[in-house]
Amino acid sequence: MFRINENYLKLPGSYLFSTIAKKVAAYTEANPEKEIIRLGIGDVTLPLAPAVIKRLHSAVEEMAEQSTFKGYAPDLGYEFLRSTIAKEDYEKRGCKISADEIFISDGAKSDSGNIAEIFAEDTRIAVTDPVYPVYVDSNAMAGRSGIYDPATEKWSGVIYMPCTKEYGFVPELPKEVPDVIYLCFPNNPTGTTLTKEQLQVWVDYARKEGAVIIYDAAYEAYISSPGVPHSIYECEGAYECAIEIRSFSKNAGFTGTRLGFTVIPKELKCGDVMLHSLWARRHGTKFNGAPYIIQAAGEAVYSPEGRKETGEQIAYYMDNAKVIREGLVEAGYEVFGGVDAPYIWLKTPDQMKSWDFFDYLLEELNIVGTPGAGFGPSGEGYFRLTAFGSAENTKKAMERIKAAK
Ligand SMILES: Cc1ncc(COP(=O)(O)O)c(C=O)c1O
Repeated sequence: MFRINENYLKLPGSYLFSTIAKKVAAYTEANPEKEIIRLGIGDVTLPLAPAVIKRLHSAVEEMAEQSTFKGYAPDLGYEFLRSTIAKEDYEKRGCKISADEIFISDGAKSDSGNIAEIFAEDTRIAVTDPVYPVYVDSNAMAGRSGIYDPATEKWSGVIYMPCTKEYGFVPELPKEVPDVIYLCFPNNPTGTTLTKEQLQVWVDYARKEGAVIIYDAAYEAYISSPGVPHSIYECEGAYECAIEIRSFSKNAGFTGTRLGFTVIPKELKCGDVMLHSLWARRHGTKFNGAPYIIQAAGEAVYSPEGRKETGEQIAYYMDNAKVIREGLVEAGYEVFGGVDAPYIWLKTPDQMKSWDFFDYLLEELNIVGTPGAGFGPSGEGYFRLTAFGSAENTKKAMERIKAAK
């Protein structure tokens, strides 16, 4: 008789965004005449850049010819993309990452959800609170997070590092020593960042304690402030203790096209064993490569036209972020993030619970956002709006919020 992985039964409720979708669907069904503005899910809305589309087309044509047809991609990804990333994302920032330390994948969600496989079963993980839910849930599925307590909304086996206003949205070093630390900056959901000095503290800590940092830099392209690191490898010693995960989803609109990568420096070792070798083994066994046409399109993101066009898309979203930030401040809200990230994190008014604020925005102003509580207990009392909507809708939403104040 087969048995199931009972760890799945320990996972609480449905995924945050399904709950939101259900609430919005119920409201829309009951109020079909209302115009809903969605500033909730972190999905891009602009179409792919022309340089990307052009390369997609030409790559499709290559697949139609015997002489240029491609079958399975190399395990680690095509050399043309890996060397472009090594040069453009790392060498140009003074980071020594070589092409063969880069593993091309179908996105940062799969990589951040799968990476824990290469660590011991009893690995203690630490996460910021609030947090992108994938890190915790994927470890829970592997039986590593202990028991979920609905009262505290915490897993017994996870070390939580609160990131709230009181902490300046900078996680404090944990009191118990973790083995693996998940950090995501610019942060989803808070939209805040760490300076290089602040990140260096984590790198030094990880090296001292023999921990590994999994650094999710999916929103790197949104950084414009000086002093904010684009890669953890800008910090001294990070090659020995950090894995970096990146995505083409938010810098180039590949959310539906799927492309990302993970960097594991060969210097990162447990005894004599390189984590690089383990991930290479895992990749070779369980992943058969991102499609050629998508990797070719990914390379086009780094072309001069690709850079220009995707840069304009990011500027468009960041204009929205500014509209949201300024609109909320004008309406009297306390606002964080939205400067180096497409997320704006606001304090709910009058100690309102974040799901109550969700209902208020949906029912009174017909705006959909994301309750902070959905990202962890320290997200209670906060709310996330995203800059990924259209400029028109973003302005309209802010007019509604300002008028309601
Ligand atoms: C922090 C973070 N990491 C990873 C992802 C997923 O990226 P991808 O589309 O490459 O899977 C997201 C998406 O919202 C995210 O917010």
